[in-house]
Amino acid sequence: MSRINGRNPVAIKTLHVAAGGGFEQVSVGISEPVAPGPGEIVVRLRASSLNYHDYGVVSGAMGPAERRIPMSDGAGEVIALGEGVEEFAVGDHVVSTFFPDWLDGAPPAEGFGRVPGDGIDGYAREQVTAPATAFTRAPRGWSHAEAATLTTAGLTAWTALFEHGALQPGQDVLVQGSGGVSIFALQFAKLAGARVIATSSSDAKLERMRELGADELINYRQDPEWGMTVRGLTGGRGVDHVIEVGGPATLPQSMLATRVGGHIAVIGVLTGIDSQLPLGLALARHLRLQAFVVGSRRQQQDMVRALEACTLRPVIDRHFALDDLVAAFRHQESGQHFGKIVLDI
Ligand SMILES: NC(=O)c1ccc[n+]([C@@H]2O[C@H](COP(=O)([O-])OP(=O)(O)OC[C@H]3O[C@@H](n4cnc5c(N)ncnc54)[C@H](OP(=O)(O)O)[C@@H]3O)[C@@H](O)[C@H]2O)c1
Repeated sequence: MSRINGRNPVAIKTLHVAAGGGFEQVSVGISEPVAPGPGEIVVRLRASSLNYHDYGVVSGAMGPAERRIPMSDGAGEVIALGEGVEEFAVGDHVVSTFFPDWLDGAPPAEGFGRVPGDGIDGYAREQVTAPATAFTRAPRGWSHAEAATLTTAGLTAWTALFEHGALQPGQDVLVQGSGGVSIFALQFAKLAGARVIATSSSDAKLERMRELGADELINYRQDPEWGMTVRGLTGGRGVDHVIEVGGPATLPQSMLATRVGGHIAVIGVLTGIDSQLPLGLALARHLRLQAFVVGSRRQQQDMVRALEACTLRPVIDRHFALDDLVAAFRHQESGQHFGKIVLDI
């Protein structure tokens, strides 16, 4: 085995999924470390976190046409530097980016072809050698597990509210359900002085959302016409922003819930992918439907800076060991979780 910057050789454990294989196809492999080339860093990964997208890949419902190391999110410690890397030092705590090639500006390409854990190998492994630009600094003082929640869920909530939504204090924000993206959105919205209306299928989870600052609570199982309920809670006006994670079954209600000229962050597909939209409503209400995927490295750096200036910490539901990846996804699949599920590596 090769040595990395004088360190003893180590065997790196990786977990793989076969293309379209489903959970039973998750397998453990051992590989050799790769020395960093110019512009690259070696990261000893310490944590990852689960997203619905990773579930799609691991369950075989979406994703790669070949065997792949899953997981888009990775956090850890820099253990070696390639030539020319000045942004990081050995020992720095870092967190991966969802699009390793999207550094700033407009999205450079369509699809998931370069997304770790989907188009390229991800972070269900102990160590990775990658371009330094595929990581940013993690927030100072955060654990690796906390930092690992930021790559996908944290940045999606951040860009929805602050980049696409230009959220202002005092505005009304609707968040759907208590998954990773929505709980981050609730926390960010309260941080920015917004009023938050939260929905969930569970009264117990709604109580926990109240503890995080949610101002109004709706059980979407008990109130399937919640769009008009939301309108009522805003004096008939409608909310300024919706964090839309449900997709086809929730979009029509979200459109009813939004004020004239309001913003719907079209993020998720929890109820499916194909949708018949009430376009008449969208036109009549001048709605701004903004579909997008996560964000750029620059946006992640902005988020990290903001997180260092406040006391917000991610809500971690449960920790699982890397070897228990399948159990972690089974837990996500059960829908019992509140916030983020983390893998300790
Ligand atoms: N576009 C992007 O950039 C982007 C980024 C990240 C995620 N996403 C997408 O966003 C969605 C959420 O992702 P996630 O990682 O946050 O998922 P997650 O952590 O697995 O969250 C799932 C939660 O969503 C809630 N939910 C399920 N069905 C719902 C419905 N019909 N109405 C309202 N809430 C519902 C449930 O909350 P309760 O138990 O409280 O009911 C469930 O626990 C997924 O479709 C994912 O693919 C998109």
